[in-house]
Amino acid sequence: MRNRRAALAAIAGAASLALSLTACGQSGEGGSKEDTGSAKGGTIGIAMPTKSSERWIADGNNVKKDLESKGYKTKLVYGEDDPDQQVSQIENLITQGVKAIIVAAIDNKSLGNVLQQAKEANIPVIAYDRLILGTPNVDYYASFDNEKVGQLQANYIVDKLGLKSGKGPFNIELFAGSNDDNNTKYFFNGAMSVLKPYIDSKKLVVRSGQTELTQVTTLRWDGATAQRRMDDILTKSYKSAHVDAVLSPYDGISIGILSALKSDGYGSGNKALPVLTGQDAELASVKSIIAGQQTQTVYKDLRQLAKVASNMVDAVLNGKKPEVNDTKSYDNGAKVVPSYLLQPVSVDKTNYQKVLVDGGYYTADQLK
Ligand code: GAL
Repeated sequence: MRNRRAALAAIAGAASLALSLTACGQSGEGGSKEDTGSAKGGTIGIAMPTKSSERWIADGNNVKKDLESKGYKTKLVYGEDDPDQQVSQIENLITQGVKAIIVAAIDNKSLGNVLQQAKEANIPVIAYDRLILGTPNVDYYASFDNEKVGQLQANYIVDKLGLKSGKGPFNIELFAGSNDDNNTKYFFNGAMSVLKPYIDSKKLVVRSGQTELTQVTTLRWDGATAQRRMDDILTKSYKSAHVDAVLSPYDGISIGILSALKSDGYGSGNKALPVLTGQDAELASVKSIIAGQQTQTVYKDLRQLAKVASNMVDAVLNGKKPEVNDTKSYDNGAKVVPSYLLQPVSVDKTNYQKVLVDGGYYTADQLK
């Protein structure tokens, strides 16, 4: 057992290990070796939202690997972005007798009943990246500082456009994520806390007039949906104007927006592409950034997130308190869910090499 752990740890690589030990503090070492022994053989259910985005595939694999290295078995399921399917998958996990469940929700409000069943079966639940709302039956939350994600995106736009040195006015359009994902309002509110003063002073102009969260969401974070909305906005509001910046909350949405922009002639002749943000540092977007198309993304080290979530499970199953670093921010309507929030990092052409390649997240070859 110890040898296997050692081998896996070595494979995980010195850099990621160092990062995760910083992030996860106590639980990777010492006492947990004996503890994982006692829980060995137990199966942990992992319910992920979709395989249509590469990040969730990485999340599923990372969590599985971390739990297996602690001596657990795993059952990993993907809900194809269908909330009903996710509910029945979690029901199945409960029936199969899993010891704990890690879930990244598709619809943050659809899991109340099934998590009540988990509670009755004494199965602890960890909300993974996305908080589950309206139920007391969520034990812990592992995520990133989601408001900071939005602030990083907006600050990037402010810096790139030179708004602090008084440049402008510039035209901007705003996109947000899925309205059934709790993160969406954190990203948007974080971004708007930075952008709103410039919108109020007319240094930033939203020509579509769509500035409310309810007007700018993108169901299930779907790139094609965002592309259609951007097409529509360009047709209606930019016949004789240039869009200078687009706030996008997620790489899959950024790629859709980029397609709409290119179809409209942006990126060729004298029609410069706008500053375009993103999130997740997905491979396609990092390549797009290197190629000078998408401008920025927010990198969230999913290896660390997986470590945090698996350490939480391991602690709970061994009667210990998981490490948390936030007990105030995430009220789900039924309780304040104790959380461990990791730090997101802004990435663009100037620092992708240092952050993503030197940090061991991608190899230089993957980015070619
Ligand atoms: C959010 C997540 C983002 C992004 C998005 C779309 O919940 O925090 O990082 O992945 O979903 O998948």
